[in-house]
Amino acid sequence: MKATAIAQTNIAFIKYWGKKDELLKIPQNGSISMNLSNLNTTTTVEFNNSLSADYVEIENLNDEKSVLKIVAHLDLIRNLAKIKYKAKVKSKNNFPSGTGLSSSASGFAALTVAACAASGLSLNEKELSIIARQGSGSACRSIPDGFVEWFSKNGSESSYAKSIYPPDYWNICDVVAIVSNEKKETSSTAGQTLAKMSPFYKKRLSMIATKIKIIKKLIKEKKFKEFGELCEAEALEMHAVMLTSNPPLIYWQPETLRLMKQIRKWRTDGLFDAYFTINTGQDVHVLCLEKDASAIKDRLSSIDYVKEIIVNKPSYGTRLIEKPLF
Ligand code: PMV
Repeated sequence: MKATAIAQTNIAFIKYWGKKDELLKIPQNGSISMNLSNLNTTTTVEFNNSLSADYVEIENLNDEKSVLKIVAHLDLIRNLAKIKYKAKVKSKNNFPSGTGLSSSASGFAALTVAACAASGLSLNEKELSIIARQGSGSACRSIPDGFVEWFSKNGSESSYAKSIYPPDYWNICDVVAIVSNEKKETSSTAGQTLAKMSPFYKKRLSMIATKIKIIKKLIKEKKFKEFGELCEAEALEMHAVMLTSNPPLIYWQPETLRLMKQIRKWRTDGLFDAYFTINTGQDVHVLCLEKDASAIKDRLSSIDYVKEIIVNKPSYGTRLIEKPLF
């Protein structure tokens, strides 16, 4: 009873921030995202009746809190599969975790698909998305392919993610610029509980449904300029809620802000149609058309505070693979 899965992380164009139900991780609002081709987690899970405890090995991350979250997720899957066997889990990311690159999204998507298969459960994409969501909200969006919508309905069974377009629908890229390897001080789980403290949060929620409609139309019509402008404004709006929570959440580093201003300058100078978006961390996602990705990568390489650059295309969702990690 061993299985291995690979999951890509995802970047949200319209973001999820704040939950209706903390335990089930039902979001206050819907969101729209894209899976990222070069940021992934591979996880092998084996359920074995000779094990007396769960054994979890995650490359570069072995804090007790993360391990407890993984064991709780295994418990959820064991309950569904009606098995009691303990598990061995080994997982590795091809990128640094905890800097805003959403390792929890790819992490819980890979864990869900590997553990469900290893436990003998045979589930459809919607069911897998619902389970992944309970590990980490945004993980539900890494299950389906390409461009994805996550619904914010009330019950657990209605809050899942679905593909709206396959990966090859639109040649856009997300060029990720890592500006620091410092771990964030506040996890997104902790940060999300503060969202309602912001005086702007209610206003944000009242505008989200319209924003989702608009972004879906812009993706449908492949209007990159308007799409990029909306993504950038959306990231700033989410960070405005974070900055005005109590206590305030400042996920940016000075380099983050420098790069945000640089990207805007590239536009005003007529160099590239590039737009930023940022999650809970300091790293910057540069959204661009594929034709500009390599020139943007070169530009970023010449900036001294940019430590690493990862070019991503839209990607498939989570799938089982034949190469186990043990
Ligand atoms: O799923 P979490 O708890 O890692 O939250 C992710 C939140 C953001 O990345 C900031 C936004 C999003 O929609 O991905």
